[in-house]
Parts: sequence; C-alpha cells; structure tokens
Amino acid sequence: MNGENKVINFTRGVPPTEAFPTKQLQECAVAVLENHSSTVLQYHPAAGYLPLREWLGEKYDVSPDHILLSNGSLQLQIFTASILAKTGDNVLVEKPTYDRAITAFRKHGLKVHGVPLDNDGINLGALEEIVNQKKPKFFYIIPDFQNPTGITTSKRKRKKLLELAESHDFWILEDNPYKELRYSGEEIPSIFSMGSEKVLFFSSFSKVLSPGIRVGYLIGPKSILAEITKYAEDTYITPNMLSQGMVHEYCQRGWLEPNIKRLKDLYHPRLKTMLAALDEHLPSVKRYSPEGGFFVGVELPAGIDSQALRSKALDSGVRLSDGRGFYSDKAGEAFLRLPFCALSTQEIEEGIKRLSFLMDL
Ligand SMILES: Cc1ncc(COP(=O)(O)O)c(C=O)c1O
Repeated sequence: MNGENKVINFTRGVPPTEAFPTKQLQECAVAVLENHSSTVLQYHPAAGYLPLREWLGEKYDVSPDHILLSNGSLQLQIFTASILAKTGDNVLVEKPTYDRAITAFRKHGLKVHGVPLDNDGINLGALEEIVNQKKPKFFYIIPDFQNPTGITTSKRKRKKLLELAESHDFWILEDNPYKELRYSGEEIPSIFSMGSEKVLFFSSFSKVLSPGIRVGYLIGPKSILAEITKYAEDTYITPNMLSQGMVHEYCQRGWLEPNIKRLKDLYHPRLKTMLAALDEHLPSVKRYSPEGGFFVGVELPAGIDSQALRSKALDSGVRLSDGRGFYSDKAGEAFLRLPFCALSTQEIEEGIKRLSFLMDL
C-alpha cells in the first residue's frame, strides 16, 4: 500500500515500535537471569520485586512498604476498586475518562458518575454538587495529559479536590501514567505529592518503557496497601517477577531518564503536527491543547453525524474510535480522541486532511 492509501489509525493509544529499547531490554533480561534467577523464577510475595520497590521508593520519596507492584496499573485499579467499594456504591470519574476504567468499575457493580471537565480540569461546581448528592467511595482522576482529552488539571483544582476528599471522606485514585511525558510547559505536582492519606497513586512503565512488559505500581498508605496486596495474592499468588527484574535492571543502569528524553523528542513533533494540522484543516472543530501525553481530544461541530463520519472515514482509510465509550452516561457523540504518538508526522497530517475533506469544513 503506498502512502496515499495507507490506513491511518486514530483509534489505539499505543507507543510505536520504534519507542521500544529492545536491545537494552535484551541485555537486562540476560543480566537478571544470570544474577537473580533464584528470585525472579520463583514464587514471591505479592508486593513484588523488592529492589524495584526500593528504586521507586527513592524516586517518590516513600518507603518500599508503601509500594505495590503488579502486572500493569489497570490491574491495580481493578484490585483497588474491589477493596474500596462494593456492588451498588457510587464512584466518580472525569467526563470523559479512560474507557477501560469505566468498564472495570462497572464490572465490579459500581455506579459510575462523570464530572464534566473544563480546559483546566474538573468543573469544581459540578464536583461539589455530585459529591454531596452521590457520597462517592472514590474519585478516579487522570490529572496529567488525561486520556482521552489531553487536559491537565490545574494545581488549584488538585488542591480543592484533596480538600473535598478529606472533608467528605472519599478516596482519590490518581492515575498518572503520562506525567513524565511532558513536552512543554511547567510541571504540576501530583495530587499524591501534596500530602494526604486519601490518595492512591497509580503509574506504570507502559508508556515510558513498554506496555507488553506489564509492570505497574501503586503507592499509598500502608494499611490499605496491605489489603490490596492480599487481594492480589489471592488472585495470582505472584506477579510477573521476570519483568520486574528486567525493569529494575534497566532503571538501576540509569537508562530510564535518557529513554524518556528520547521518547519526548520522538513524540513532541508529532503533537505539534497534530495541533497545527487541526488548526489548519479543521478550524471549526474545538480542540484541547495538551502539553504532553498521547492524545488530543476534539469536539465536532453541531450538525456532524459522528456515526456516519466514522463509517465514511473508514472508507477513506481513517479509523476513528467511538467517543461514547469515554463517557459514563453515553454522551460523547461529538467527541473524538486522536492519539498521535504511533503515527508519523506525515500520517498525522494526511489523516487530518482526509477528515477535513469528509467533514467539508
Ligand atoms: C489513563 C490510563 N490508565 C491506565 C492505563 C493502563 O496502563 P497499564 O498498561 O499500566 O495497565 C492506560 C493505558 O492506556 C491509560 O491510558
């Protein structure tokens, strides 16, 4: 297929193959099997590989017994939801939010309610109202370069959310896998770092190293972590120790920071191209302005039938996801999530051009 006809996939938020430091990971696998096989090939306490928990402990300034490792962070979110809430309980998410989180919480029988987003994060008026009404067990939030919009929650809103969590006694599940992929602008402290016993912080090596390696982590207060660890142990006995050993080897060789820098250099031009292409070819579409991460969210103008657009786009070689999947209340008809990291700048430009032709804007 030549470049003109190639299918451009605006559906999945995955890293491109060139993001993977394959050779380095190969070396780490050999080293860990040579030096630590009796640990990483054996059953192990469910909290995970201690040297990696110690390494993360230094990075986040907590002791290792505040850290639980698992097979990716989504699995930890599922365990956590199962411990913190029971069937029929209300929980809050941003509107829109990560579709798999909505699915996972619903699978556990939870009632999921969305809090609308402004350009700088959750709408505080709506948040207060819904907290008072629904008495949620937790609020699941992606504060940096949110999936699916790319929005970052301001520091002021993070503080206010913390105050509300404390005064109304609900947990904050801070899911922050994109935080280190900031391409411009000023870093904002994580909610977890603002110091509260009501925050559980989730992240993983999926976006900064490899998702297939499946290493995620949870940082939080010891008592709740003990319960989640027991749940993990009852589920799988031991997480993937070989992966955790490889990740530790990678980190302690000092390779993670240069890899993140390499990824930023790879992704930043792709984000810039996406924003410029939207401004040039689709000026009447409302877009967000992410400073990092994997996604740019856009709202289609009134009058565009998004279902029809999706099928016409497919005929023109552009795959789009259904915006409604990101909304807990099946709104999202006009919403499009545009992932940019796994596409070349030429593909991004071409994909947006094809969409503008279809929308005739
Ligand atoms: C916001 C968010 N949380 C969690 C995940 C899943 O991450 P992991 O691979 O660590 O399970 C993703 C993956 O795309 C994500 O976008």
